[in-house]
Amino acid sequence: MFSAEKFIDEQVKKVRDQVKGKAIIAASGGVDSTVCAALVSRSIGERLLAVYVDTGFMRKGETESVDKMLGRLGVKHIVVDASDEYFAALKGVTDPEKKRKIIGEKFIRVFEREARKFGAEYLVQGTIAPDWIESGGGLRDTIKSHHNVGGLPSDMDLKLVEPLRDLYKDEVRKVARTLKMEVAEKQPFPGPALAIRVMGEPTRESVEIVREACAIVEEEIEKASSAGKMKLPWQYFAVLLPVRSVGVQGDIRAYGYTIAVRAVDSVDAMSAIYSRIPHEVLETIASRITNTMKEKVNRVVYDVTNKPPATIEWE
Ligand code: XMP
Repeated sequence: MFSAEKFIDEQVKKVRDQVKGKAIIAASGGVDSTVCAALVSRSIGERLLAVYVDTGFMRKGETESVDKMLGRLGVKHIVVDASDEYFAALKGVTDPEKKRKIIGEKFIRVFEREARKFGAEYLVQGTIAPDWIESGGGLRDTIKSHHNVGGLPSDMDLKLVEPLRDLYKDEVRKVARTLKMEVAEKQPFPGPALAIRVMGEPTRESVEIVREACAIVEEEIEKASSAGKMKLPWQYFAVLLPVRSVGVQGDIRAYGYTIAVRAVDSVDAMSAIYSRIPHEVLETIASRITNTMKEKVNRVVYDVTNKPPATIEWE
C-alpha cells in the first residue's frame, strides 16, 4: 500500500542528500512537475529555480495561472517565452515522433540556457513510471517517445533528478493531496502540449484553433459535471485533424477542418476507456466549437476508442 507521507519524507531527505548545488525544474503547471517542484523546494529551498517555458503550445490562460500558482506555493520561478523558437523548429514537421523529439530537445536546450544563467548543475524532472515504460524502458517496445524521456539529448550536461520515477499517476495525486495542492485534481496534460493535439505541422494558427476547442471541451464538461449530468472524466480535450470536409454556412458551401473530442477514464494512463458523455453535452460542445470558429471548423466527431488499441492522445 502506497503511503504519500512516507514517500514525501523519504524523497525530501533523498533529494537533500543527492542535490549539492543549484537545480532547475521545468514547471509546466501539471500535477507531476508541480508536485516535483514543491517536493524539491522543500528539500533545497531557493537553490531550486522553477522555469516555466511558454512554448506557444499551452492551454488557454495556462501561463498566467501557472505563474500565480507557483507564487502561491512559494517556489522560486521565472517565465520564459520561447514560442518563436518552437514554431521555427517545427516548421514543416508533421511526423509525430519527429515532433516529440524536436520539442523534447528544444526543451532541454532552453533549460540548459537558463540553467547556465542560474548556475544549476541539476535538472529535476517530473517523469513518472508510465513515461519511461512506454518510451521503451525495461523490456517493452517504444510506443511513443514521451517528452521527458525520448527527447533527452545524449550530450546533456546536467545531472538528472527524478523523484517521481517509480510512481503512477494516482500516487502522484495522493502526494499532491497530502501536500494540500490545488493542482491535485487537475487532468494530465502531455509535455509536448497542444503541439501533439494538432495532427500535422503545429503553426500559430492551428494551435490557436485547438487551444480554443480544448477550452470549450473543458468548460462544457466541467459545467455538465458540476450540474450532475455526468461524472468528470479522467482526461478530456480536443484534437485538430488535418481532414477537411464539406459543410454549409448559411447557403454557402464551406470546406473546414475537423475537431475530434476525446474523453477517457483511467487509473494509471496505461489503459483507458472512453467516457460515455451524454449526447446533449456533446451537442453543446459541437455547436459551440463550430459557432466560435465558423470559418475554420465545420465538423466535430467523438472518439469512442479505448486504450488499447488506441492511446489517449492521438500522437
Ligand atoms: P498516451 O497518449 O500515451 O498518454 O495514452 C498517456 C498519458 O500520458 C500523457 N502524455 C504525456 N505526458 N509527456 C507527458 O508528460 C508526454 O510526452 C506525454 N504524451 C502523452 C497523456 O496526456 C495521457 O495522460
